[in-house]
Amino acid sequence: MVKKKTRVRKAVIPAAGLGTRFLPVTKSMPKEMLPIIDKPVIHYVVEEAFDSGIDDILIITGRGKRAVEDYFDDAPELRMHLERHGKNQQLKDLNEISRFRGIHFTRQTEPKGLGDAVRSAEKHCGDDPFAVLLGDDIMKDGIPCTRRLIDVFEKTGGSVIAVQEVAKKDISKYGIIKGREEGDNLFLLEDIVEKPRAEHAPSNLGAIGRYVFTPALFPCFDLVTPGAGGEIQLTDAIRQLMKKEDVYAYKYTGKRFDTGDKLGYIETIIEYAMEDEGMKGELGEYIRKKGM
Ligand code: UTP
Repeated sequence: MVKKKTRVRKAVIPAAGLGTRFLPVTKSMPKEMLPIIDKPVIHYVVEEAFDSGIDDILIITGRGKRAVEDYFDDAPELRMHLERHGKNQQLKDLNEISRFRGIHFTRQTEPKGLGDAVRSAEKHCGDDPFAVLLGDDIMKDGIPCTRRLIDVFEKTGGSVIAVQEVAKKDISKYGIIKGREEGDNLFLLEDIVEKPRAEHAPSNLGAIGRYVFTPALFPCFDLVTPGAGGEIQLTDAIRQLMKKEDVYAYKYTGKRFDTGDKLGYIETIIEYAMEDEGMKGELGEYIRKKGM
């Protein structure tokens, strides 16, 4: 009998979407590369994976997303320039990225939905459990959200998705779960519905872009019928997975920023800027003035 693997070493970061909510800038710039002051969104996502104990990362890119690969590549000319000019702080910032060295990349040939993007990681993940972190969601907490999901996985052996309470007006933007409470912030998944109308939603707990899956997820994609525009939904594959094994939902209580949304993006920048000693005083003053 093949022993089930219990350590989560791999992560998949889908970053191949078109980012239509951010057009026209996303015509030539991946939304995952939009800056949160001086680091792109995807920097924080990769950092979360590393800080959760993951050292094997696969980023799913697509056409027009080369900037993502360039960002995580070495830049010897730039490094030498900074060394020559004694720009030590900038050099330190640059070297911080090098701890992420060894990231793998694959391309989704067409943006056929999040499910299709995750499915393209099958060969890379093989028989291993893996985390999925959406490339445009930033989570902010003492213990990384992905680490918390891995803890649940190690305890239960089941796939687990992060959820958060969402406002009634936003329910139709999320995959909403129905779950049976099993413990502190832990639910056994009974159903998950993609973007329901608020009055038909089974709860107010929405999936927020962090998952840990057993490899049993992959065959589930064969059973999923593509929706409008040939899109393959991850939610549909999760529903199939639930028929085969227990799937859990973990209610994450930290902060979450949806940077793929314009307002969410601005909020993220303000959040990080207000933590910067050099900026927070004047920025706070500016915001207070504007608020009047
Ligand atoms: P979104 O639905 O937020 O991304 O997917 P999108 O389609 O790019 O955004 P809009 O609605 O057009 O503005 C969540 C994550 O899944 C990735 C996206 O890059 C994002 O990180 N994704 C989405 C893919 O990798 N492939 C897809 O086909 C769709």
